[in-house]
Amino acid sequence: MTGSLAMTRAQQFEESENIGRNDTPNPTMGEVIAARYSRRDLMRGALAVTAISATFGPALLAASGVAKAATPSFGFDEIPAGVDENHHVAPGYRADVLIRWGDPVVAGAPEFDPMAQTAEKQRLQFGYNNDYLGLVPIDGADDHALLVVNHEYTNEELMFPGIGAEQSAKEVMFKNMTKELVDIEMAAHGGTVLEIRKVDGRWQVVKDSPLNRRITADTPMAIGGPATGHDLMKTSADPTGTQVLGMLNNCAGGITPWGTWLSGEENFHGYFWGEAGEGHPNAAAFKRYGIPGNWYSWGAHHDRFDVTKEPNEANRHGWIVEIDPSDPNSVPVKRTALGRFKHEGAENIVNKDGRLVIYMGDDERFDYVYKYVSNGTFDPAAGKANSALLDDGVLYAARYDADGTVEWLPLVHGHGPLTAENGFPDQATVLINARLAADALGATKMDRPEDVEPHPKTNKVFVLLTNNSRRKAEQIDAANPRAENRFGHIVEMTPPDGDHAATKFTWDILVKCGDPSIAEVGAVWGPGTSKDGWFGMPDNCAVDHQGRLWIATDGNSDKATGRSDGVWALETDGESRGSSKHFFRCPVGAELCGPIFTADDRALFVAVQHPSDDSDQWAGFGRVSTFEDPATRWPDFKDGMPPRPSVVVITKEDGGIIGS
Ligand code: FEO
Ligand code: CA
Ligand code: CA
Repeated sequence: MTGSLAMTRAQQFEESENIGRNDTPNPTMGEVIAARYSRRDLMRGALAVTAISATFGPALLAASGVAKAATPSFGFDEIPAGVDENHHVAPGYRADVLIRWGDPVVAGAPEFDPMAQTAEKQRLQFGYNNDYLGLVPIDGADDHALLVVNHEYTNEELMFPGIGAEQSAKEVMFKNMTKELVDIEMAAHGGTVLEIRKVDGRWQVVKDSPLNRRITADTPMAIGGPATGHDLMKTSADPTGTQVLGMLNNCAGGITPWGTWLSGEENFHGYFWGEAGEGHPNAAAFKRYGIPGNWYSWGAHHDRFDVTKEPNEANRHGWIVEIDPSDPNSVPVKRTALGRFKHEGAENIVNKDGRLVIYMGDDERFDYVYKYVSNGTFDPAAGKANSALLDDGVLYAARYDADGTVEWLPLVHGHGPLTAENGFPDQATVLINARLAADALGATKMDRPEDVEPHPKTNKVFVLLTNNSRRKAEQIDAANPRAENRFGHIVEMTPPDGDHAATKFTWDILVKCGDPSIAEVGAVWGPGTSKDGWFGMPDNCAVDHQGRLWIATDGNSDKATGRSDGVWALETDGESRGSSKHFFRCPVGAELCGPIFTADDRALFVAVQHPSDDSDQWAGFGRVSTFEDPATRWPDFKDGMPPRPSVVVITKEDGGIIGS
């Protein structure tokens, strides 16, 4: 057992994501930025205009005569940054709760009763901590769709009565967590498919739709791709290494061009417990992945989560899972060709030559940015048969060079150091231990890569780096002047001639986040960014169909930034590049996830995750929230009803396009 048990759930995430386990000598992003933007380069004028705009602002741009906006600007009145018990949206908009934790999903599901929860009920009801949201229109309609939702993790102290604030002590936490409560937690993980429809201008769930589905930590799934049947994938319950139960800690994701849902297993290590010391067959790899994480007590009741008893079960998690939301009986498939790490999202784009390119972040301090390029090409007539593209392709990790290029390094067995002598006897091992393979290739250690999102019109690729508070002073210099990157930044990559399959891109910085009024922070924003407009900790993002970028954050608090998490609108080009405006904010303690626009841009769906969590960071509350004593009872505000993670749909009161 590790000391990480004596923490709140929020602190466990902070610990995992902010204390990296990558002790390779690979360069950090800070070192690369420092080298790239050296004073000598600036004097030589070697920087791209986009980098200059982030560095020097509009005056220089205006002088250069090159500032032109390719996309429309945002038209809404900014909201004040701050925090209270409720959510807030820009004037002229409404933000309506679509579905809450515990609401019925599958036909026959009971209504939520927080004092009478069972695993059987939870398997039919909306899960906890909604994260990624994806929309699959039905018959191309603007008012009818499937909404897919990831349920990332559970906060037992907020979900269940009687757990108490002392859940942060492992003895109390594990003592109070019965098998039934564990099974409720497992049922509250995974994902949800919902048929939704706009009726009289309001989006609503189609109650009892046969398409509505819950996926949990116990749902049978297939293993697909090169690691299928490999010895490292075999367990006592599955000696074939071809089937697995459930998906864990599903964070962000993507929708494929053929309408399936890609869901990323992120901090899967937290669900495993036991001992993986010397002598454990996976000891070295488990150390790099932080397994076992000892966050949950599931291993007390289910042997597969005990790495001592079942040494390979953890190898079967940490993948991108493909789910067909149009068929409630379909078997989800873990697509092993996309590699195993702590997956944030899987946003993707059909390259100009027809190959599918999927961008992925490994969200841990000092971990890597990846992309996957299919070998075959997307066939619009082939429908779901295109899923074969996810089993046959090349996974790459990114090396960001000081000359402004990105080198994509292939994780291919036999390439460079990826040989049997170095612990990679075959391609399956390269993919199962993708972090180790990327270490060997010399990928660049990043500041917690979250969403990596290609812009469908400009072909720019945005990399959201949420923070890395432990970057050392010797890893930065005047060009990247932050002794610790507490607030994150956004890198913008450009593929050559829009070729996402190319192995060499260029890169720039879009913004450096944090409070621009505090010089030591070293934040860089575009002109006109107000005291409400700046943010910290970019996490998820969405590009609307006007081509504009919207940012969702995770980690703001009174102590960190004096503001709650939410949605900000961020200009990406022209004179106002890097300018940010505050559009929506969460209730206290909540993170904002999964922003997604309908095809007509008349609705923005967002996931409000873990309201009340981390409330000791909020001056107005100042203590850990519990079921009995939460910082907010959002969204119901009823005595006895705990806070409930919920999907919110934002529309303009006049029914118009969001942000115009
Ligand atoms: Fe689950 Fe990286 O956020
Ligand atoms: Ca995230
Ligand atoms: Ca996050």
